[in-house]
Amino acid sequence: MLKQINLLREKGHCELKAITSTDQLPDWYHQYLGRKGELTSFLKQLGTITSEDRPAVGKIINDVKQEFQQSFDLRQESLRESKLHQELISDDLDVTLPGRPCTNGHLHLTTQTLRRIYQIFQAMGFQIYESPEVESDEFNFQLLNIPEYHPARDMWDTFWVDSEVVLRTHTSPGQIRAMREYFPEPIRVILPGKCYRYEQITPRSEHQFYQVEGLAIGKNIKLTDLIGVMSEFAHKMYGADRKVRIRGSYFPFTEPSIEIDMSCSCIDKADNVSNGCRLCKYTGWLEVAGAGMVHPTVLLNGGYDPEEWSGFAFGMGVERPALLKHNINDIRYFYGNDLRFLQQF
Ligand code: FA5
Repeated sequence: MLKQINLLREKGHCELKAITSTDQLPDWYHQYLGRKGELTSFLKQLGTITSEDRPAVGKIINDVKQEFQQSFDLRQESLRESKLHQELISDDLDVTLPGRPCTNGHLHLTTQTLRRIYQIFQAMGFQIYESPEVESDEFNFQLLNIPEYHPARDMWDTFWVDSEVVLRTHTSPGQIRAMREYFPEPIRVILPGKCYRYEQITPRSEHQFYQVEGLAIGKNIKLTDLIGVMSEFAHKMYGADRKVRIRGSYFPFTEPSIEIDMSCSCIDKADNVSNGCRLCKYTGWLEVAGAGMVHPTVLLNGGYDPEEWSGFAFGMGVERPALLKHNINDIRYFYGNDLRFLQQF
C-alpha cells in the first residue's frame, strides 16, 4: 500500500502543477482530497492491514493529505493572482462607462422640524440661545428649585458622568444661564438641544430626544401671554384646525405650571371623532410641552427680582410635534437609521 500511496503523491503533485486555470482546481480537489477521493479510499482500506503497520501507514496518509492541502492552497492563490494580473494588463479601462450616480442626502426630519420651530418663534421675536448638553447637578436641578432630596428628581432620572455631572435631562438649565447672561435686560429666547433620560423606550418616548425651551422675562408678563404664544405656535405649525389643550400641572421651577397637549393626528378633522391610536394611548391627545410662569426662586437664581420681573417658560419636545405633523406612529423610527423611513421626509 505504501508504494501505491507514494505513486499517488507524485501523481497528485504533478497534476496540480499542470493546472493552469482556477476552473480546473475543484476537479483536482475532489479527486485527491474529496470525501470520495483517492486518499480517503486509502484511509478506508486501513482496516485491511495488520495492526502493527496501521499507525505508520495512517500517519503517512495524513501527512500526504496535509501536503496536498498546502500545495492546493498555494496553487489556488498563485492562479488567482496571475488571473488578476492578466485581467489588469489585458482589460482596457472603459472611460465611456457612466459613473455611479451620487444620490443627494437631505436634512434629518428632526433638523427640519427644529428649523421650522426656529422660524415660527423667530417671527414672534425670540432669539436662539445655546446652552451645554452636559450639565452640573446644580444647573440641571438645584438652581431650578429641585434640591437633592426632592422627589421630582425621579421624573428626570438620567445618565450621570460622575456624582456632580449629568447629561442634561431637559433644556431648562439653560434658563438660568440665559438669565445670568442677559440681566438686567428683558429676555425672549428659545433654547434648543438634545436631552437624555433613563427612560423606558416606547412609541412616544426615547432615552435621547430634542427639546426646545422658551423663556420670556419682562415686566408684567402673564400666563395669558404664554397661552397666546403656544396657540400661535400650534396654528403655525399644524394649521388652524389642530386643537390645543391646556391642563394644570406641576414643575418645581414654574408656578403655576401647565401642560400643553395637541390633538393627535388620528383624530378625524371633519367630525373630531377619534378612535385613538397607540401614540396618543387612545386618548386623542398628545402632550407636547410643559410650561408655566417662572418660579420666583428661579428668577432670583437667575439674578432677576421677582417683585419687579415676571416671565414664562416652556419646554417642548421636537420629535413629538414631528410625529403629529407627519402622522408617524412611533418615535423609535427617528433614530433607527432606516433610510426607507428617513427618505420619506
Ligand atoms: C420638562 O422637561 C420640563 N423641563 C418642561 C418645562 C420647561 C416646564 C419650562 C416648565 C417650564 P417634561 O418632562 O414634561 O418637562 O418634557 C417636556 C416635553 O419634552 C414633553 O412634553 C415631550 O414633548 C418631550 N419629552 C419628554 N420626555 C421625552 C421622551 N422620553 N422622548 C421624547 N420626548 C420627550
